[in-house]
Amino acid sequence: MKNLLQWALICLCASAFGQHIGDGPVIREHLKQEDINDNDETWNKLIEAGEKLFLAKFNTFDGQGRPGTTGTGNPREPGSAPAFIRTSAPESNSCAGCHNDPFPGGGGDIVANAFVLAQALDPVTDSVSGEFSNERNTLGMFGAGPIEMLAREMTAELHAIRDEALARAKTNNSIEVRNLVVKGVNFGRITVTNDGTVNTSMVEGIDEDLIVKPFHQKGAVVSIREFSNNASNHHHGMQPVERFGLDRTGTSDYDQDGVHDELTVGDMTAMTVWQAALGTPGQVIPNDPVVARAILRGERFFGMVGCADCHTPSMTLDSSVFSEPNPYNPPGNLQVSDVPEPYTFDMAVQGMLPRPEARYDGKLVIRPYTDLKRHNLCDEDLQHYCNEQLEQAGIPTEMFITRKLWDVGNSAPYGHRGDLTTLTEAIYHHGGEARDSREAFFALSQARQDEIIEFLKSLVMLPPGTPYLVVDENGNAKNKAALTKQLLNQ
Ligand code: HEC
Ligand code: HEC
Repeated sequence: MKNLLQWALICLCASAFGQHIGDGPVIREHLKQEDINDNDETWNKLIEAGEKLFLAKFNTFDGQGRPGTTGTGNPREPGSAPAFIRTSAPESNSCAGCHNDPFPGGGGDIVANAFVLAQALDPVTDSVSGEFSNERNTLGMFGAGPIEMLAREMTAELHAIRDEALARAKTNNSIEVRNLVVKGVNFGRITVTNDGTVNTSMVEGIDEDLIVKPFHQKGAVVSIREFSNNASNHHHGMQPVERFGLDRTGTSDYDQDGVHDELTVGDMTAMTVWQAALGTPGQVIPNDPVVARAILRGERFFGMVGCADCHTPSMTLDSSVFSEPNPYNPPGNLQVSDVPEPYTFDMAVQGMLPRPEARYDGKLVIRPYTDLKRHNLCDEDLQHYCNEQLEQAGIPTEMFITRKLWDVGNSAPYGHRGDLTTLTEAIYHHGGEARDSREAFFALSQARQDEIIEFLKSLVMLPPGTPYLVVDENGNAKNKAALTKQLLNQ
């Protein structure tokens, strides 16, 4: 038994070293956006704080829960809903509660599915029926930094095409038609008239604002930050100040749980930068020549049967710099005009390993296996991917963004709902715009189909810290060009 003096000493030492005894918030220190500058100290602080926020099991001292608001921030009678509810949420303690497979920041098993749009219902729904929500499987964020920057560069190019057409139509008093082809992806076309009208009826796979939205399986969200602001409130009842600001009573306790300023602007920058700095997915080519040969052949056939028409094997990122915030953020998220200058880091040299491949000219080669465009995979006989009833963000229920395949080897289960257990099943349900490619796949011999599957299995989120993008089963670097020459005689 300790006597009083010993206890007093323990308490004194604990507080002298900044320790806290007993229950309290998990996040004791909140970052101030004004303290975030471009220097090494900030970088380390952001990565450390970002990881902590992503893994934190928020509790009531942190502000977990939203008794006075729904998951979309609409007011409700405090206490009119349960503190946790699996469907309309809060339904989890931490971001990593769902995003943990195979590592924190990754995807999730079907048990980690989210019931998208149920969070908007008030009163809360306890039904998982498709009438009330779109059930979706958790996605991994490895490579999210390059994905966000690819979308930004594509958007800037699309807007430049539109602006040039507008200017030309005005000067020449003409009607201008422009094809919207950026980074090799065709988003249809626009017709612009001299009065400044832009006809977008022929635009394909993105919204009329011509902003490429790479996040959500619907392609509905612009940035990691926008998604993180939504998710914090939706899943955990943690309100970011930049989204919710002051409430009806003029305090920053928007959800009326007694905690103010639950997530600061600096916290959201840290959470975003940590996700953007996660490693890039890569490839495992085992040393067994039979398997290695199957993977390399499968990669060829994947292109030949038309899978690569949507699952674009590689895109070039002109700049290797990630900058925060995103200039296309919608209101309710930090804007570029809110900061003296954006926070930046160079994805070629900073961030967790493995990093994206830098070319001789400083540009990055990104291999996401997506065109960041929405497609319809349904037709008369194949309807699996049309299993949703609720329209999200005005996007037709049958449209989904081409799923990134760069982590498909360790992101099972498959499909937006995660209700498909094998890759062949996921391919089987490709109808509509992917019908020809699907038919070509199933017309191949079983051995060829197996090679394509073996190739897909080789695309994985590598263990964090892996220094190379292409490795063998022991994590040693693999020279793919030399191996291709050796095994395929090419
Ligand atoms: C209950 C499970 C769950 C929790 C908890 C959760 N997420 Fe998610 N997350 C999902 C699901 C499901 C998706 C895919 C949603 C979709 O496609 O409609 C997703 C998608 C995302 C995406 C977009 C990824 C992409 O490539 O499109 C980001 C970013 C994200 N979550 C961040 C977070 C953050 C940050 C937190 C914590 C504040 C969090 N999530 C908590 C389930 C969860
Ligand atoms: C017309 C564009 C298009 C073509 C062509 C296409 N896909 Fe897809 N693919 C998609 C879209 C869109 C999704 C997301 C479907 C969903 O979940 O709603 C998808 C999803 C997938 C998935 C599921 C991945 C996961 O993690 O859930 C796999 C596997 C896949 N495609 C493989 C292929 C293969 C192999 C081919 C060629 C035989 C192919 N795709 C051709 C658009 C296409």
